[in-house]
Amino acid sequence: MRIGILTGGGDCPGLNAVIRAAVRKGSFHYDDTFVGFLEGWRGLVEDKSMPLDLQAVAGILPRGGTILRTSRTNPAKKADGLDKCIATLKRNNVEALIAIGGDDTLSVATKLYDKGVKVVGVPKTIDNDLSGTDFTFGFDTAVNIVTEAIDRVHTTAEAHNRVMVVEVMGRDAGWIAIYSGISGGADVILIPEQPFDVDKVAAKIRMRHARGRYFSIVVVAEGAKFAAGKNGPVVQGGEKDEFGHVRLGGIGNTLAQELERRTGFETRTVVLGHIQRGGSPTAFDRVLATRYGLGAIDMVHRGEFGRMAALRGNKILSVPLAEATGTNRTVDQEMLDAAFGILEDVEKEAVAG
Ligand code: F6P
Repeated sequence: MRIGILTGGGDCPGLNAVIRAAVRKGSFHYDDTFVGFLEGWRGLVEDKSMPLDLQAVAGILPRGGTILRTSRTNPAKKADGLDKCIATLKRNNVEALIAIGGDDTLSVATKLYDKGVKVVGVPKTIDNDLSGTDFTFGFDTAVNIVTEAIDRVHTTAEAHNRVMVVEVMGRDAGWIAIYSGISGGADVILIPEQPFDVDKVAAKIRMRHARGRYFSIVVVAEGAKFAAGKNGPVVQGGEKDEFGHVRLGGIGNTLAQELERRTGFETRTVVLGHIQRGGSPTAFDRVLATRYGLGAIDMVHRGEFGRMAALRGNKILSVPLAEATGTNRTVDQEMLDAAFGILEDVEKEAVAG
């Protein structure tokens, strides 16, 4: 069978491991041939591709980024964009397509499936906010990077009697913030799901310092929102992308100023940004990404189109693409309980009210 592969949306450690696994299993076990479409859906709209064989995927398992490159191109926003994608698939004799991406990429995959394209999805995002699956690959790597950063920030915060605000990624969901906040022992964790009262955060920090601690670590997701005074998340401005997303960023600095003003404690900000998305995937993400790649190629040969490989429990299953798109998977009560479980009641009241 001739199969196309593309990677769309923000890059994510483990993309190359998915590509490698699909190409290896397809070549060894099914006699498949592959074509890699470049730069996400742009490759299909503009017919840009590269040969994808065993040689092309040799040595890419530990490499971050994606050998196919990526973009946030949305064919549905371009004149005849979806039809151009279909024409490109025909011209390249592609019988089935594996689309590796998050909500945006998979929403385009769903539209193409509705037009008759045989497509299988693989869930990707460091934010871990895709519905239909327990975990996306790339998330574990991001959490490990942030945890190491929080550990480092701890020692300098302690040395200087400072409050350190660590801004992490997480547009609609606070998975990275809550996991790394717990694993790094943060004192306050702020997530997009729960707008926060900055007076209460300041009160908690003052209370902590009054009880003899002289530094505090605050982890804040880029999409977290002040409960009062401002509307929505802090944005960097600029154009919306083709899927309608604004560029987030800046809450760390705004929050640091507000906390310093309210507490009188010297406060600094660390914005981790794209460092969270770069570099080599963790062993966990390499294995998960490999299992997704294997799952996807098996789904193609079982004819399970319009579906996405998904992790449920510890099994790779397939779920309808429609289950993965539309609504984000936000931080659940169990994780919130875990974050609150390690706080005293008086500390909980200070943040949650
Ligand atoms: O989609 C994942 C993500 O990393 C978000 O957490 C973040 O807001 C966004 O991508 C940043 O996108 P870009 O690299 O296009 O600025």
